[in-house]
Amino acid sequence: MAGYEDFINTKYKPKSTDLLVSFKVKIPKGVKKEKAIGAVASESSVGTWASTVKGSEYSHVKKVAGTVYFVTQESPTSYWTKIAYPQDHFEPGNMSQILASIAGNVFGMKAVDGLRIEDIKWPAKIRDSFPGPQFGIDGIRKIFKVKKRPLLLSVPKPKVGMTTPEHCEIGRQIWSGGIDLLKDDENLSSQKFNPFEKRVRTAVKIRDRIEKETGDKKSYLINITHSSYKEMEKRAKLIADLGWEYVMIDIVTTGFSGVHSVRELCQDLGLAIHAHRAMHASFTRNPDHGFSMLALAETSRLLGVDNIHIGTAGVGKLVGTSDEVLSIQDHITGKKVKENKKLRTLGEDWGRIKPVFPVSSGGLHPGVLPDVMKKMGTNIMIQAGGGIHGHPGGSHAGAIAVRQAVEAYLDGETLDERARKVPELQQALTLWGKKHIK
Ligand code: 3PG
Ligand code: 3PG
Ligand code: MG
Repeated sequence: MAGYEDFINTKYKPKSTDLLVSFKVKIPKGVKKEKAIGAVASESSVGTWASTVKGSEYSHVKKVAGTVYFVTQESPTSYWTKIAYPQDHFEPGNMSQILASIAGNVFGMKAVDGLRIEDIKWPAKIRDSFPGPQFGIDGIRKIFKVKKRPLLLSVPKPKVGMTTPEHCEIGRQIWSGGIDLLKDDENLSSQKFNPFEKRVRTAVKIRDRIEKETGDKKSYLINITHSSYKEMEKRAKLIADLGWEYVMIDIVTTGFSGVHSVRELCQDLGLAIHAHRAMHASFTRNPDHGFSMLALAETSRLLGVDNIHIGTAGVGKLVGTSDEVLSIQDHITGKKVKENKKLRTLGEDWGRIKPVFPVSSGGLHPGVLPDVMKKMGTNIMIQAGGGIHGHPGGSHAGAIAVRQAVEAYLDGETLDERARKVPELQQALTLWGKKHIK
């Protein structure tokens, strides 16, 4: 093995024990495509720029090198390529190491103008070295005794700045209006105006009251995000002691090691994990460079989150086309997933790894909920902030409107038919119509 080009072998048939990565590569002007694409396989596995390094010739080193086995040109400067990495290249159960190879230095190389990981296919040995979700969709549905309906979530808005009593009063209103789960926002942790311990202790009393009044299970996605694991541990323990079911973590800002460690902790505490993806778009949004939302969702499934935000399939305020969001949904819920050439995704066999509950959120209001459910089905979580708290009658009325919009869909009624019986829904439709948020 010498130069970058030696890492290309399009006759190579990947083995079931290989980890496969689908990359989109942009080639700089004047650089040979073989050099650029070979550089991706080399630098993301065993190689470096100096072809004279002695060890590159060792057969045991070659055995753990990446091989480009598929290349196709998509535009004058852009290629879709697939690289196979023998599973022994990796340390099982160590996501940080795996990503340091396939998604490491290689992103900064001058040999490419842009590089994007579209998808990763995990061999069984690596897949099974991770726990996957503790509860998964069925386990979460059991907690709520809700078999078919989408579970409903709401995040108080304004997202940060309200006091603990204000925040918890919103909890009371949305729970009593028919929402299953109150949720913290990504940037609410334990600030002076709404400290963590005070918030979870106050909310627990309200929850007990509302559960008694409604006879329904109510819960809370409580953000334990912290850059110190010890602090997350302390917060998760308090959550468990108070009889809550869930922690929430910002999976990107706490990092892969944070997610892995919180999953281990939650196994001991019997808590489910809600994954918030804040900051993901800094590396998932550019179609020519970065790490796709699909790949992030898959790594999160392996690490073992129970819910993850995946978008609204084009209906809400956030980027993410219908095709992309539905493909992510397939990959986090499916057992066997087929490859999709249009989206450059690879197939997957998830084995014993449980499905993750997909959360649809961002710019949702009652008028668009039928569109979301038509696209994503009803085995999802639906989350609304502004679409509940911006209701002219306040958060309680907003919660009723959202719940009724969902119930109407399940009962095969149109929103207008249901709105004739439910004034809160009518008010929401009068304010927002059925418009998708731009
Ligand atoms: C997303 O899809 O990432 C979001 O809409 C996040 O919503 P949230 O901040 O209310 O959880
Ligand atoms: C988000 O950040 O996307 C949200 O917290 C969801 O809020 P929204 O329902 O007001 O868009
Ligand atoms: Mg938010």
